[in-house]
Amino acid sequence: MQQTAVLELNNLRKTIKGKEIVKGVNLTLYPSQIFGFLGPNGAGKTTTIRMIVGLIKPTEGSVTICGYSVAHDFVKALSNVGCIIESPDMYKYLTGMENLLQFAAMDKKISRQRIKDVVEMVGLQHRVNDKVNTYSLGMRQRLGIAQAIIARPKLLILDEPTNGLDPAGITEFRNLIRKLAYEEGMTVFVSSHLLLEIQQMCDVVSIIKQGTVIKTANVQEIIHNDRIEWQLNNPEKAITLLSEHWHVDAIQLKKNTISADIKEHPLDKINGFLIREGLALTYCSTKQNTLEDLFLDLTEGDEIV
Ligand SMILES: Nc1ncnc2c1ncn2[C@@H]1O[C@H](COP(=O)(O)OP(=O)(O)O)[C@@H](O)[C@H]1O
Ligand SMILES: [Mg+2]
Repeated sequence: MQQTAVLELNNLRKTIKGKEIVKGVNLTLYPSQIFGFLGPNGAGKTTTIRMIVGLIKPTEGSVTICGYSVAHDFVKALSNVGCIIESPDMYKYLTGMENLLQFAAMDKKISRQRIKDVVEMVGLQHRVNDKVNTYSLGMRQRLGIAQAIIARPKLLILDEPTNGLDPAGITEFRNLIRKLAYEEGMTVFVSSHLLLEIQQMCDVVSIIKQGTVIKTANVQEIIHNDRIEWQLNNPEKAITLLSEHWHVDAIQLKKNTISADIKEHPLDKINGFLIREGLALTYCSTKQNTLEDLFLDLTEGDEIV
């Protein structure tokens, strides 16, 4: 059965003052997916998010949320979204609970019980009656998430949510996001300029650079590929042999070094074969791929952060 997409971006573009900032982004997300929007500062992440939630109008293209067009059915589309762009708005002199009650007063469907459940979900039950100005950054962020999910959105959008969190805070945040996605079925859209974070938290990632998505991939698939490097005397011959006999696409990295990304590899057999074919193999290494490798490859060694 075909699932309804929670979020669909179709050729989304934005030009501001003659400068094209977002250059045709396409994306489809389904329930329970944790999506990472990864790119350096200034890549166009926040601009894309502002278009998704209808804060600015796309120059071209469309945003559809749970089947509703943001341009034509704004209220229905946005009723499925909870979001935090930049830092969450909170009254610092009120308690966490008072903030949530204030927010819930705008929506008659939100019960007391729901507020209590959400507070527990984000793990704020012991501090919810303290004033927000006594909260750590991580606690404020959890309160922000509680507010964003209180109306049971299908899509939660968080723009650079771990900025300023310490490592313990980041781990906590990651666990919370997983719980929301896998236990509550929420689709989570997280933007970040930090590779490792996206790698550890997300199922799917799009890498955006200068307004263009240069790659969308399943994070597990990237990680489960191994990167093999061989040092040998005749790279051209080795590349041909690997391609013809093992269906392995290798590329030449340096004068005597080639490399390939492979999922399953009987490396002992491959190396035995290369040696039998007369190649002098001086070194072979294997390491798990990371998003960083991919990011560096795709951006040709540009600075990441
Ligand atoms: N309102 C605006 N006017 C002019 N330039 C803008 C405006 N909003 C964003 N930009 C520019 O668009 C680019 C992308 O910005 P942004 O979407 O905030 O990137 P990111 O969130 O990935 O860091 C930046 O170069 C930024 O300066
Ligand atoms: Mg931004």
